[in-house]
Amino acid sequence: MRLYVTAIAGIVLAPAIHAFYLPGAAPRNYADGEQVDLFVNALTPMLAGTDDSKLKSLINYDYYNPKFHFCEPKDGPKKQPESLGSILFGDRIFNSPYDIKMVKDNNTCKTLCVVPDVTGEEAKFINDRIREDYALNWLIDGLPAAEMKVDLRNNDTFYDMGFNLGNNKGAHQNLPALNNHYEIVLKYHKPTPETYRVVGVLVWPASIGGPQDSDPHCDVSASQPLILSEDKRQPVRYTYRVTWNESDTPWATRWDNYLHIFDPRIHWFSLINSSAIVVFLCVMVSMILFRSVSKDISRYNASDLSEDIHEDWGWKLVHGEVFRTPRNPLILSVLVGNGTQLCSMVGVTLVFALLGFLSPSNRGSLATVMMVCWSLFGAIGGYFSARIYSSLGGQNRRKNAFLTATILPTLVFIIVFLLNFFLLTAGSSGAVPFGTMVIIILLWFGISAPLSAIGSYYGSKHGGLRNPVRVHQIPRQIPPGPKYLKPWIAAILSGILPFGAAFVELYFVLSSLFASRAYYAFGFLALTATIVLITTATVSILFTYFILCAEEYRWHWRSFLIGGGSAFWIVAYGLFYWASRLKLDSKTSVVLYLGYLFLIALLDFLITGTVGFLASYWAVRRLYSAIRID
Ligand SMILES: *[C@@H]1O[C@H](CO)[C@@H](O)[C@H](O)[C@H]1NC(C)=O
Repeated sequence: MRLYVTAIAGIVLAPAIHAFYLPGAAPRNYADGEQVDLFVNALTPMLAGTDDSKLKSLINYDYYNPKFHFCEPKDGPKKQPESLGSILFGDRIFNSPYDIKMVKDNNTCKTLCVVPDVTGEEAKFINDRIREDYALNWLIDGLPAAEMKVDLRNNDTFYDMGFNLGNNKGAHQNLPALNNHYEIVLKYHKPTPETYRVVGVLVWPASIGGPQDSDPHCDVSASQPLILSEDKRQPVRYTYRVTWNESDTPWATRWDNYLHIFDPRIHWFSLINSSAIVVFLCVMVSMILFRSVSKDISRYNASDLSEDIHEDWGWKLVHGEVFRTPRNPLILSVLVGNGTQLCSMVGVTLVFALLGFLSPSNRGSLATVMMVCWSLFGAIGGYFSARIYSSLGGQNRRKNAFLTATILPTLVFIIVFLLNFFLLTAGSSGAVPFGTMVIIILLWFGISAPLSAIGSYYGSKHGGLRNPVRVHQIPRQIPPGPKYLKPWIAAILSGILPFGAAFVELYFVLSSLFASRAYYAFGFLALTATIVLITTATVSILFTYFILCAEEYRWHWRSFLIGGGSAFWIVAYGLFYWASRLKLDSKTSVVLYLGYLFLIALLDFLITGTVGFLASYWAVRRLYSAIRID
């Protein structure tokens, strides 16, 4: 029990404490000659850099995967402590045997170790990873080792995180060369004459062939590349050379070189474009709605006065039906409850991100904050679910509370578990470790579910909203409506707008998720999210109005579907992204991609569906409380 409480307290508090280390707030000072640790992270597939390059895999491998045969520390690799989010996003950080001392051994060629026998089978494994553009990810003083690159669009130099495991370009297309030598350039800054701070880590990997067990040399230009033979045992020598370069970059801005936004104009153009369209649309839609609705209302109310032209039409006809309990109110309210929980999570996470708490220097903080927010907002989910449920006329409150608390976590957990299974069989390190799984289960069922139950309790206590008009005893006949108002067609049609406002940003989010590029354009993301929110709400209200005008009163589920319509487009776009940007060879990668895509679409469906439903619900209540009914 105590362990459990400590674990939970640790999970909740760790990011909170961590968050106060704003980027640039806690520099580490080194003395002359002090050991500078080099940590190694999992190997990740990388986009090869050119614009038309495709990502070839989605699987991470542990650095110390025995098949790579990288040099290990004397007393074995030790795992470094990491945050929950960092583990979830695939970080597996270990120590390494590199011997680096602050400003010592400048330009000295050193041998890390000689691996005596790499078997042919292992050589094939390594060569395959080189062909798939795998990259090594090192960390020195929290900074990722990067390659210096030039953005061809504006000739800016920037640091691209990670560097190649080997070379598969040009002549090496069929015979990949393994990089067994690393030119490490460490940039340091001296705030005072006695203290040193690491402000940049660059690595130029190189391949040095020739006899591997002879005396080491670091002469890159004078040697043949090292090509591993796939049918015999062979030794591999790993060498490195550290160059210390003094830099003017102060510690506080050392991340600036890494956080290079490729062509920020794309973000701006898309944002301005979509917001212009969206603002225009919203204004137009609300004007149409407002004018015709207020005209309708004054006519309805006037015709009530003069008895002779007493004739109802349009949405007023269904006033006795709109608040009729929809089919499956339980499921609808559970979906809406979970949707509000997710919405609040996204909102708060974006605020955190905008305040700069989630910069990539706090590894994994984004996912950690999301998980913690999600767990805590279980209360909001339970509350909304319960209130919506009683508003819809549901009776079985316990079942509602139970399902709200459990159904989405269980579903997500099953998907993650299945994906994990695939990762494990592929020998990837990306699988979520057992301990982390247990922590997540504790978060879900130990924090989120009880909070959700408490929320449900208060929600039921507050009860449902009172309907502004009474429901008739006998349901009306529904006349056949126009085709475009059929639920699925309406959903797909209405999803175009919110999706259209967001798809450029979606491209960057997908790239950062799958090509392990850090994402930091949170300002753009927040604005895009706001636009999506407004569009979804407006479009749902508009379609609900059309539906009611067509004397179709079953709007509850339809408004949810219409709001969630963008999820269909996300799936379609995900498939397009797969076709255009990915070239996945292994079945595991394909399953992973589809699994993640499904998860993203599911979450989007819940969030935007909830927005659509709540907006329509609000509008319907406003609409029918404005007319007089005798
Ligand atoms: C290390 O060597 C490089 C030249 O190779 C030089 O520019 C740099 O100042 C040297 N660093 C130190 C700390 O001596």
